[in-house]
Amino acid sequence: MSGEGGIEDIELLRRMLARERSAREQAETLLENKSRDLYAALSRLQGMVGELDTARRQAERHSAAKGLFLADLSHELRTPLNAVIGYAEMIAEDARGDQVIEDARRIMVAGRGLLALINNVLDYSKAESGKLELALQPVEVPAVMEESIAIAVPMVMENRSVVHTKVEPGLGTVTSDPVRLRQVLLNLLSNAAKHTMGGMITVQASRLGVDGYRIEVVDTGRGMDRSQLDRLFEPFQPVRREEDLRFASTGLGMSITRQIVLMLGGRIAVQSVVGQGTTVTVDLPIDGPVQRRSA
Ligand SMILES: Nc1ncnc2c1ncn2[C@@H]1O[C@H](COP(=O)(O)OP(=O)(O)O)[C@@H](O)[C@H]1O
Ligand SMILES: [Mg+2]
Repeated sequence: MSGEGGIEDIELLRRMLARERSAREQAETLLENKSRDLYAALSRLQGMVGELDTARRQAERHSAAKGLFLADLSHELRTPLNAVIGYAEMIAEDARGDQVIEDARRIMVAGRGLLALINNVLDYSKAESGKLELALQPVEVPAVMEESIAIAVPMVMENRSVVHTKVEPGLGTVTSDPVRLRQVLLNLLSNAAKHTMGGMITVQASRLGVDGYRIEVVDTGRGMDRSQLDRLFEPFQPVRREEDLRFASTGLGMSITRQIVLMLGGRIAVQSVVGQGTTVTVDLPIDGPVQRRSA
């Protein structure tokens, strides 16, 4: 009895062992296949990462080349243009006939406009490639405001408008780049001057919280509608087609202005009502931009 039972038990055990072995073998094969799949996926992924890296490096090279090209082009354009403007000035000074003087003036005005556009393109390409450098130092905001206004006054007067400033007492000294800050103000002031006829332009500065200050350029000019505002900061997108050559633009002014404001650690906002005017608000940190730590 026990003998019979023993044989059956052994048979059962043998079958169980065999089943277990085949199950294990199946699992091993499955595992092997899975890890082979995984390995293949991994090397595909590595290949893709490599390709992406190559593409990125290529894009960076292209972008750098584009920036360099723009910088070179701007320089090559500026040199002859300065000669054109210079000779037109000489002609205007020496000429006797009214018509000749008038024509020479036209050349000067158009030439200066073109020069300003080229400078904008150069600044834009520099800012875009992160090559616009800041020279941070203590800055008296009211002084920068006065300097910018002095440059913009002829444009303001040409449209029979007036400009004045409001500075909150005790604004104090801030850390900024005076050249770039003036460029921001000048861009905003020239926009205000161009698009305000017989109106008022106000530049005001005040403290903003404990560590900020606000500069606003307010005009009572023709304003912009929603769709114009939406395109305002887009590069190479003039908000409206200008008939007047003096107003002809690349639509770069506000994109550069925003880039500079961001670099200075601030932000810029625009409010506008058609037929009533525009307010541009620039908020900046008193201590300048937070210095980026080297990674
Ligand atoms: N203060 C403003 N009032 C009315 N329109 C403005 C004002 N500022 C800008 N714009 C409009 O936005 C456009 C883009 O301005 P900007 O980027 O400075 O370029 P640009 O001055 O070179 O034309 C201007 O051409 C103008 O049509
Ligand atoms: Mg402008």
